[in-house]
Amino acid sequence: MTLLPTCNGSAFLVHTLINQRAVLEICFCFVFMITCALQNADEINSEAFLASMELDAKERARRRRENKVLADALKEKGNEAFARGDYKAAIVCYSEGLDKLKDMKVLYTNRAQAYLKLGDYQKAVVDCEWALKCDEKCTKAYFHMGKAHLALKNYSVARECYQKILEIKPRLQTQVKDYLNQVNLQEKADLQEKEAHRSLDSGKNTAVTVRNLLETLCKPDQTPLFYAGGIEILTEMMKDDTERTLFRTHNGFSLISENEVLRRCFSRARKDAVEEMVCLSVLRLWQAVCTGNEENQRLLLECPDVGRLLPSLLATRALSVRQQSLALLLQLAQTDHGRSLVISHLDLTRLLEALVSFLDFSDKEANSAMGLLTDLALEERFQVWFQANLPGVLLALTGVLKRDPLVTNASALCRCIAIMGNLSAEAAVRRQMSACEEFREACLGLMARCEEDVDLFREVLYTLLGLVMNLCLQSPIVCEVWALEVSRRCMFLLNSQDGGILTRAAGVLSRTLSSSQKIVEEALRAGVVKKMIKFLKTGGQTASRYATKTLAVCTNSCHEAREEVIRLDKKFGILMKLLSSEDEIVVGNAALCLGNCMEVPYAAPPLLKTDIVQVLLRHAGSDAQKTAVQLNAGIALAKLCTAEPRAHRSHVTILGWAASHLTSLSFDCHFWKS
Ligand SMILES: *[C@@H]1O[C@H](CO)[C@@H](O)[C@H](O)[C@H]1NC(C)=O
Ligand SMILES: *[C@@H]1O[C@H](CO)[C@@H](O)[C@H](O)[C@H]1NC(C)=O
Ligand SMILES: *[C@@H]1O[C@H](CO)[C@@H](O)[C@H](O)[C@H]1NC(C)=O
Repeated sequence: MTLLPTCNGSAFLVHTLINQRAVLEICFCFVFMITCALQNADEINSEAFLASMELDAKERARRRRENKVLADALKEKGNEAFARGDYKAAIVCYSEGLDKLKDMKVLYTNRAQAYLKLGDYQKAVVDCEWALKCDEKCTKAYFHMGKAHLALKNYSVARECYQKILEIKPRLQTQVKDYLNQVNLQEKADLQEKEAHRSLDSGKNTAVTVRNLLETLCKPDQTPLFYAGGIEILTEMMKDDTERTLFRTHNGFSLISENEVLRRCFSRARKDAVEEMVCLSVLRLWQAVCTGNEENQRLLLECPDVGRLLPSLLATRALSVRQQSLALLLQLAQTDHGRSLVISHLDLTRLLEALVSFLDFSDKEANSAMGLLTDLALEERFQVWFQANLPGVLLALTGVLKRDPLVTNASALCRCIAIMGNLSAEAAVRRQMSACEEFREACLGLMARCEEDVDLFREVLYTLLGLVMNLCLQSPIVCEVWALEVSRRCMFLLNSQDGGILTRAAGVLSRTLSSSQKIVEEALRAGVVKKMIKFLKTGGQTASRYATKTLAVCTNSCHEAREEVIRLDKKFGILMKLLSSEDEIVVGNAALCLGNCMEVPYAAPPLLKTDIVQVLLRHAGSDAQKTAVQLNAGIALAKLCTAEPRAHRSHVTILGWAASHLTSLSFDCHFWKS
């Protein structure tokens, strides 16, 4: 027996009770004291009496400490039982703990959780109320209480509980939204069921037919054709929510998924015509019962085996079965709720492999499959899964990059590569991708293939460059030989007339160049400086970022690059203009590049006639948040001063400051996404 305090509306706080008792005791003692003093003043020593009271308080505190230790141990024991799934034993432990310490909140919430597991919702509610008496801001109590009320179909109270969580901890907004959503869905399902049963009771024709059909279909061991025929008729009946709801309330999902004959049809790798027909009829039925019915969607995806079955049907040999499976998944993935179910219940590795294999199919199907994958990949939970399971799907993704862009639908291929590009914005993902030699080589191979006809393969190339750009953010780049080859390909692309391709090729270069001196030297020989200067004269903002960074990297490591910049950018007109850009990455790299050029002895004097000292000074002393800009401007200034003493005289302090910071920084551009 537990000494569970019953909830009869007496809203006293347990610890207040303890305090009240203490106060009462003190009052009582004083009364007693005074009475005694009056009675026999000689016998009563009030000091001794107070001392003994203090002793009592100490004694109580000691007992409480002891009880706390015992209650803690019982809580641990209860948690262990809970973890084993022995909820009854857990409840016994928590109750014993509460015998020791009546105001231990966590024992109430834990016990409530155990009651929830056992379906004892009323008791769960009572425990939550006690936990809230111990701590009115206990969000766990509101959480369990919401769950209990939801199970009791007490929807409005469940909503109130979740709202309370939001009031106490606004940062739990996302979770609370999910809980509230669950309440709404369950309430909707509940109303549907009431309505469906009213229709059935009132003898609505289609409702009665659905029930009778389901009863017929539960006959075991009939021929596959018998079931296929019945299912076709049933599918025809699924015209509105009443029939769809009756399907679930009359056990439709388990009837279908547990029928031995149907299961056999599903599981055969090579299906004959009849088996194929059975699969098709079930897939169509599932689409019909899931249309606009969230509860049915949930029940379908929670059926045992469906998580494996759907991806395998999606990859089966029979074309029509693949198409219908895709249609079902597309339908489910239309809503947030459906996507979330797909991500939680399907075997995502097999799903991804199956979807990618649709690239072999018709244009329309390939694009639908990639559209589905795009929608899933935008979900945070998919991204988390992807990061953790990338090794298992890397082979399939490598296969995509190895496809011939001439025979694969370009827009579908682009979508798939764009998904990889987006996902590779995450450091953990690009680390794994670039560590895989086959994947890297496949990127390079596809680049080479696209360069055979840049105009024809423009879209694929553009998307691929995005992915490669992200891979090159991996620092240091895993493989120098690969980076060198990528740089060569990008140098070649700098001859293109296409602004988008040019920009991305420059973006890749701005990242590969910093990985080795050899790459810089080769790019210099191929005329990278001249191309970048030209770029800066005509390119847009993104292009300017990449070009400035490229120049900064080249001038940082090569004397020839500095001389070439000086020769091509007369009086540093272009770099000076960049210094007044709004974009701090451009300013920082332009300052770095200028500073590098100051190391060439004849570069500084002509600058004194310009306002460069003022401009650099302004940047060096600017907004404290842009420390990298300040630093590079300071370095440029210091180098200018060293090279040209006339500038030096007036700016000795800056020189001293900058000299102590003489390590140049190069700014990376924000990496590509999408
Ligand atoms: C819903 O919860 C409230 C508050 O606990 C309770 O008074 C009411 O009886 C509950 N209704 C149902 C149907 O359980
Ligand atoms: C690729 O598929 C889309 C959508 O079906 C279509 O519009 C496009 O023409 C196809 N592209 C090629 C190159 O076949
Ligand atoms: C890539 O990400 C962007 C921004 O998050 C998004 O708008 C775009 O649709 C994504 N593209 C693909 C193919 O996933």
